[in-house]
Amino acid sequence: MNIGPYALANRVLVAPMAGVTDRPFRQLCKKLGAAYAVSEMVTSRRDLWDTLKTSRRANHEGEVEPIAVQIAGTDAAMMADAAAYNVARGAQIIDINMGCPAKKVCNKWAGSALMQDEPLALAIVQAVVAACAPHGVPVTLKMRTGWSETHKNAVRLARAFEGAGVQMIAVHGRTREQGYKGLAEYDTIAAVKAALQIPVVANGDIDSPEKARDVLTYTGADAVMVGRAAQGRPWIFGEISHFLETGTHLAPPLVAQVKRLLLEHLLDHYTLYGEFSGVRTARKHIGWYVKSLPGGADFRAGMNLLESCEQQLAAVADYFDGLQARMERVPGSLAARSSPDQARQNTEDQQEQQEQQQEEAPL
Ligand SMILES: Cc1cc2nc3c(=O)[nH]c(=O)nc-3n(C[C@H](O)[C@H](O)[C@H](O)COP(=O)(O)O)c2cc1C
Repeated sequence: MNIGPYALANRVLVAPMAGVTDRPFRQLCKKLGAAYAVSEMVTSRRDLWDTLKTSRRANHEGEVEPIAVQIAGTDAAMMADAAAYNVARGAQIIDINMGCPAKKVCNKWAGSALMQDEPLALAIVQAVVAACAPHGVPVTLKMRTGWSETHKNAVRLARAFEGAGVQMIAVHGRTREQGYKGLAEYDTIAAVKAALQIPVVANGDIDSPEKARDVLTYTGADAVMVGRAAQGRPWIFGEISHFLETGTHLAPPLVAQVKRLLLEHLLDHYTLYGEFSGVRTARKHIGWYVKSLPGGADFRAGMNLLESCEQQLAAVADYFDGLQARMERVPGSLAARSSPDQARQNTEDQQEQQEQQQEEAPL
């Protein structure tokens, strides 16, 4: 699959998740088999571009190309400015967020809320494409199936966006109104794919190689995008792409490999955020890595009290050394999802994801 001039190595992409898919996490996912990852969204509000949060999000040092930046906002001229600003800072692809319920920007809801105002959504796309075209930068877009069950306008909008020059569209199979409730549906994604010439990416609830294969077959989409299932399991991208290519499963990673990956992830994370913020924001990642592992819940509770990088690294190393004495490999994705620790965790997580997404929106 291609996005403009960029050819992707496989059909498995990382879904943008504010507060999660920062540069260390994206790099790890790409190293472990994701063909492509979009940055966490950057606000179109110029007054916030110099904040620490936005400058961290716009830092692409060492990032594997193509560098794709997602922008969020509600005003066409401001979105065009934001696109130009990010292109000047190294973005090779600009992605427009019409996929998640982003916080209010300039007293209006951005992200998927834009799907309710079709003329404004199209004006934004046209302005961003006009700002990117002189630099040869492709514009992509992420959307939901519609505003609500009775207003599923993804196909109409996607056609208009393609006409305006968008070069790839990712569709999350839920409406804005649904949030993360219920199950993703893939009929609308199939309809979008059938209506367009440009690549279409299917997203929503893809959590195993088999599910990825089934969604690709059902929708005819060019690729899948995986979000929540990659939290604490960044190797899922390699597992899925291997299965799609060969029809066989990779063995789950060795406990020793996961220990090494997580320690490297943490070091990279501390480098970007510094000790105070780094230790605190790393807790959720560590929690995701261990949540389906024996003793993971207790370890997570104790680990949340540690306040220095050194203590956090030592605790993680000790936990995995102990685990290695009990098992050689971490459980595979299906086993992990049905473990007793996991069952309890899933309900808590759904709630947490919703809250986190609101919190981590661009402001
Ligand atoms: C914590 C969190 C943050 C998210 N942030 C964004 C975002 O910044 N931009 C966006 O387009 N979608 C965002 N999303 C939506 C995801 O990209 C994806 O569409 C959604 O999680 C469904 O895919 P999944 O079932 O594979 O997780 C976010 C989702 C989560 C859980």
